[in-house]
Amino acid sequence: MSTDTKPAYSPGLAGVIAGETEICWVDPDAGLMYRGYDIHEMAEKASFEEVAFLLLNGQLPTMAEFQRFKMEIAAARTLPKQVLDMLRLLPKNTHPMDMLRTGVSMLAPFDPELNDHSHAANIRKAIRLIAKVSTLITDGYRISLGLDPLSEKPDLTMAGNLFYKLNGEVPPTWKIRMMDTIFILYADHEYNASTFAARVTASTLADMYAAVTSACGTLKGPLHGGANEESMKMLDDIKTPDRAEKWMMDALAQKAKIMGFGHRVYKKGDSRVPIMREIGRDLGKRVGKEQWVPICEKLEATMEREKKLCANVDLYAAPVFTMLEFPPALNTPIFAASRVAGWCAHVVEQHDNNRLIRPRSLYTGPAMRPYKGISPNGAK
Ligand code: COA
Repeated sequence: MSTDTKPAYSPGLAGVIAGETEICWVDPDAGLMYRGYDIHEMAEKASFEEVAFLLLNGQLPTMAEFQRFKMEIAAARTLPKQVLDMLRLLPKNTHPMDMLRTGVSMLAPFDPELNDHSHAANIRKAIRLIAKVSTLITDGYRISLGLDPLSEKPDLTMAGNLFYKLNGEVPPTWKIRMMDTIFILYADHEYNASTFAARVTASTLADMYAAVTSACGTLKGPLHGGANEESMKMLDDIKTPDRAEKWMMDALAQKAKIMGFGHRVYKKGDSRVPIMREIGRDLGKRVGKEQWVPICEKLEATMEREKKLCANVDLYAAPVFTMLEFPPALNTPIFAASRVAGWCAHVVEQHDNNRLIRPRSLYTGPAMRPYKGISPNGAK
């Protein structure tokens, strides 16, 4: 056996093209496109449900298709009783991302089309998953507080129901619109780690629930979706804008990884940051918490000067979620409530034109050597 071949190798798959997609394009020069539409235009004019339809189907819905899509989501929100019972069995301190991952996994056998990977069945499962991921987050959270889940309000959008099902209050229209924009920003990001994990799982011809379970597990890490929870801990620690520069200099001197900064693809800034920053500024004025955006801006300027690294969307998402009164542990699940649309669109695309994703690794272990174990004939 020869071990001396040295194929091209890129640690962390940096810069490697691992597949083709028609769903999303991340422009390293600070752009983002969903199926040919600029994210900035979508964030301003579209609704999340419209974007989810676009990601799944490749084109914007007609009014009739849009109404039907919204009704299908509304009809699929309720969780099976057994899943609710399971959520009640989890320890009270279970992280909401672990609840979500476990919940998605348990939903699988309740889906009558689980093992039908045809395009039409996959789209139907995607709708059910988009609806139920949100409910797993809101019901799971209430259950962890010892409260009963609340019924959906079918007339509210995904964004509206997210607020309503947490505390039973219908939020003002401006808040729902703001959440809609945030959902649009988070809906897809081509081959990010969780989407890639979903595609790897789907490429074995495993089902969509298996793929989304993989994606949830991958999103949790602080180098990916978990960064928006960690960023809030940092901002809470800094507290005021005048402390931000020194905080950053001290952290960099200790060679710490600063959450909410850096990106594998963007080198001239994260396309979503300007929109999230403006949401943060607007929200700060509305709720009387105007310190967060100036803290982030001071951190951005210091990081740019010291390391030429840009902020990513999670830096600003953290205070935005806090000002919207979500507990920090829900930051990453809320990201998932939107990204599930992207994950499902990628699973549909993978199953429609599948090839197993199976790269090689570079062997760096010892050369072939004779076995000299304790017993030549195996353990006695
Ligand atoms: N804080 C401090 N230094 C950072 C940094 C950060 N957030 N992100 C990158 N760097 C530095 C690295 O230390 C490294 O420096 P070096 O070359 O002197 O060793 C250099 O920048 C390259 O970083 P690297 O970790 O190799 O880049 P990557 O492409 O592998 O990683 C991230 C990308 C996103 C994982 C990384 O930037 C990171 O860990 N960011 C913080 C977590 C985060 O916000 N994640 C959300 C992403 S949307």
